[in-house]
Amino acid sequence: MLLKSFKLSVFLLLCFCFMFNSCKSIKSTTVNTQLLHPAIIPLPAKLLWENKAYKVPKANTICFNDGGKVAASWLHKLLQSANIAATVTSGNNCGNWNITLNPSLKSSLGEEGYNLEITENGIQLNSGTKAGLLYAIQTLRQFFPAGIENQQLSSEQISLAQVSISDKPEYSWRGTMVDVARSFFDLKYLKHHVDRMALYKLNRLHLHLTDDQGWRIEIKSKPKLTQVSSRGSVTGGRSGYLTQEEYKELQDYALERNIIIIPEIDMPGHIYAALAAYPELNCENNSNINPKKATPPEPYSGEEVGWSKFCLKNPATYDFVSEVIGELSEITKGPWIHIGGDEIEDPLYKTFVVKADSIVRHYNKIAIGWEEVTQAKVSDSFISQQWNGKTESVVDVKVIESICSQFYFDHGNTPGQKDVATWCKKDGITIKEVYNFLNTNPMVIGVEAPVWTEKVHSNQAMDDRFWPRLTAVAEIAWTPLSKRDFSDFAKRLSMQGNRLGYMGVNFFQNPEIEWNNISKAEQAGDVFSNFSPGE
Ligand code: ACM
Repeated sequence: MLLKSFKLSVFLLLCFCFMFNSCKSIKSTTVNTQLLHPAIIPLPAKLLWENKAYKVPKANTICFNDGGKVAASWLHKLLQSANIAATVTSGNNCGNWNITLNPSLKSSLGEEGYNLEITENGIQLNSGTKAGLLYAIQTLRQFFPAGIENQQLSSEQISLAQVSISDKPEYSWRGTMVDVARSFFDLKYLKHHVDRMALYKLNRLHLHLTDDQGWRIEIKSKPKLTQVSSRGSVTGGRSGYLTQEEYKELQDYALERNIIIIPEIDMPGHIYAALAAYPELNCENNSNINPKKATPPEPYSGEEVGWSKFCLKNPATYDFVSEVIGELSEITKGPWIHIGGDEIEDPLYKTFVVKADSIVRHYNKIAIGWEEVTQAKVSDSFISQQWNGKTESVVDVKVIESICSQFYFDHGNTPGQKDVATWCKKDGITIKEVYNFLNTNPMVIGVEAPVWTEKVHSNQAMDDRFWPRLTAVAEIAWTPLSKRDFSDFAKRLSMQGNRLGYMGVNFFQNPEIEWNNISKAEQAGDVFSNFSPGE
């Protein structure tokens, strides 16, 4: 009896220490108290804590079955970063860390779900897919102290809270968009962005590759797009472009992390950078550029929209579109090409959209466009991306939700923040407003948060706009509505601050959250940065 109540009080003390991170003196005499009930984001669909911990032994075996080798590499890397020695071997349940790929689990867990069990006997990761196994590891990663992200773990013994998790996402589309056209973000930054997305199980990276101010992807048959069009940017922004090799490198890096790249060529509007390099695409007297914010071949570095468009009666336009989409399709492994379609009026607009859709399908891809495209009778496979909610659609197609009042993260984190967009929501978008997303449209396949870069010119600023709000996007896209609770999320997020800090993320320390002490790394990078698990 006495022993029981002693155990109970030790347990309560540990819980208290974990919640308030304040019992420094007992830290060394207990086994990693902070690891009891780690703060997982996104919250798993089903989760049952045991009030016990699994003490990771000195010698470990990672055992993987057929198809589990890549997951074993990820897991091995995680353990190495925690100074945990492990041998990796194939077999069925032959280790204290067991990875099982079992395709029959797809019927219950879908394409991305997984089970994770931590018991007194060790750790079991099961899924019907490789993606699911990777997500099991991303969840497990959050059981380790945040210092694992930056080689800051001392050699103290690691204990993992015992748990039973069965998890799968609410939505298949859990995305972010980076506008690299107004201001360029290079391969190195984009890889770090992918690293961070992967931790929170985000799985779609949309690159807004072209706009009036710059063209950012090499198209070999149109060399002036990089020789001329890539040189511009918005005032104060960065110019540049991704070579096809860089694009492919980013794509493969992302795919290893279950993230698919969606390239966007924005047309028929927002196209001045291309018109400046290829003047033959313009109508007579450049009548397609109106009002004339710039005249070819001069670059444009302002912020206005809606004044440039392809000459839609010019057959050369369609040859250009076909060549660009053809080359882009060839280097793109994902099924989607985004054709833009926003903020332009033209009598031939709908004809253009239908043609662009058929060109994309000709190259065996699925077209996505901003919501205005649904004024045209696009094909059933088309996906519309909602952003201002003003379009009267004539088709019933799938929708990605990016409504600007909740998901345009170029808007401020708080009222009065400097260098932010305000046109959609004057006082910015709080984490709670993101978190309160409620979907009533059965055609919605998920959510995506864009950052437009008219005012975002540095890596630091991009981090500030995306984080921590993307953690809320991750949770609303993954966790079932019935399990979502903002005050619980806010507590878990406060515990994640240190992890983001160790990862070198310049996140906005939003006053909505009671942040714990945060150690900030100078350099971006985390436990899986630049890691490749092999085949
Ligand atoms: C948009 O914000 N023009 C898609």
